[in-house]
Amino acid sequence: MTESWLITGGVGFIGSNFVRLSAQRKRERLIILDALTYAGNLENIGDLLDPSRVIFIKGDICDHLLVSRIFQEYKIDKVIHFAAESHVDRSILGPSPFIKTNIEGTYNLLECARSSWKERTGPLFLHVSTDEVFGMLGSHDSPFTEDSVYKPRSPYSASKASADHLVLAWHHTFGLPVVITNCSNNYGPRQFPEKLIPLTILNSLEDKPIPVYGDGLQVRDWIHVEDHCRALFQVIEKGKRGETYLIGSHSERNNLEVINQICDLVDEILNRAQGSSRKLITPVKDRPAHDRRYAINSQKIRKELGWKPVFSFEEGLRDVVRWYSENRSWADRVRSGDYRRYYETQYGEK
Ligand SMILES: NC(=O)c1ccc[n+]([C@@H]2O[C@H](COP(=O)([O-])OP(=O)(O)OC[C@H]3O[C@@H](n4cnc5c(N)ncnc54)[C@H](O)[C@@H]3O)[C@@H](O)[C@H]2O)c1
Repeated sequence: MTESWLITGGVGFIGSNFVRLSAQRKRERLIILDALTYAGNLENIGDLLDPSRVIFIKGDICDHLLVSRIFQEYKIDKVIHFAAESHVDRSILGPSPFIKTNIEGTYNLLECARSSWKERTGPLFLHVSTDEVFGMLGSHDSPFTEDSVYKPRSPYSASKASADHLVLAWHHTFGLPVVITNCSNNYGPRQFPEKLIPLTILNSLEDKPIPVYGDGLQVRDWIHVEDHCRALFQVIEKGKRGETYLIGSHSERNNLEVINQICDLVDEILNRAQGSSRKLITPVKDRPAHDRRYAINSQKIRKELGWKPVFSFEEGLRDVVRWYSENRSWADRVRSGDYRRYYETQYGEK
């Protein structure tokens, strides 16, 4: 084992999928730092923990003493920074944790990396960010590229945009070896069921109303989480320091198309009459400043680093619907008290 990687937010949705794929490679020692907020679930990687190879530390990325100690004790070579408050709706209900974790937490990690890596060659700070920092596209606009202008419109995307700016500033000013990735909407196993795809799958499986914001015609460019994680491995291995890479799968779909597709898959899996689940679709008041469309031009990472996605949206979605239908107890456990309160505030009765 040659390197030690600090993976922040490694028990959340994307982080845990990344840890699971990294653990299969058996090349690095993984140090996972996660505060176990409502979105973090140790069960997501519990079967992998091993004191010599996959180590979990419960803690906050804003805690300077703790993060400095981790850098020192484990001689961290690379940081893969996933930890964040990640849900736009929650950022509208209460922006404060977004400012704290996404901006101050990133600042703390950058400072700890800077003081720890003074004498080191070869380390990397990979900041995992989102396409939402670029704001929204009109239906005829070209997809985002690495040259797109930052125009965030929600507290979530503004906090991620701030973090991106800090990361690049630490590169230009202090020479910190950083790479930023901006990825489109992910779907896959172990995503907290407040997000569109798992929420729709579970409500459909459980015969509950399926909320759809406004006219449901908001377009997202969906990518399977494992394709995103494989892109991150390419970036870790071959990405140029100081560069940004956009990651996307060229799978634009509007929300209503996605919801209808999930309803039909659930009907098929449960042997229900086709069209039954679509009857559960219930329009709700639109989110304020709801971005109309995101889309990614991922030519740079495809050409320069040789990455391409493996999943088509249709086959990926089928796998994911199956995963949630076979892991209903996982969903029951994560939807505990805090989530129930949030759901009632957002959509009314559960
Ligand atoms: N989900 C997407 O579609 C998507 C797309 C592009 C980029 N991203 C980015 O990828 C990253 C991971 O997203 P996700 O969907 O897995 O999020 P998530 O909400 O599922 O997981 C976030 C994890 O971070 C942890 N965390 C939160 N605050 C923390 C703190 N102060 N200290 C330590 N740990 C903390 C949580 O406990 C959780 O395990 C985020 O930075 C997000 O902005 C997400």
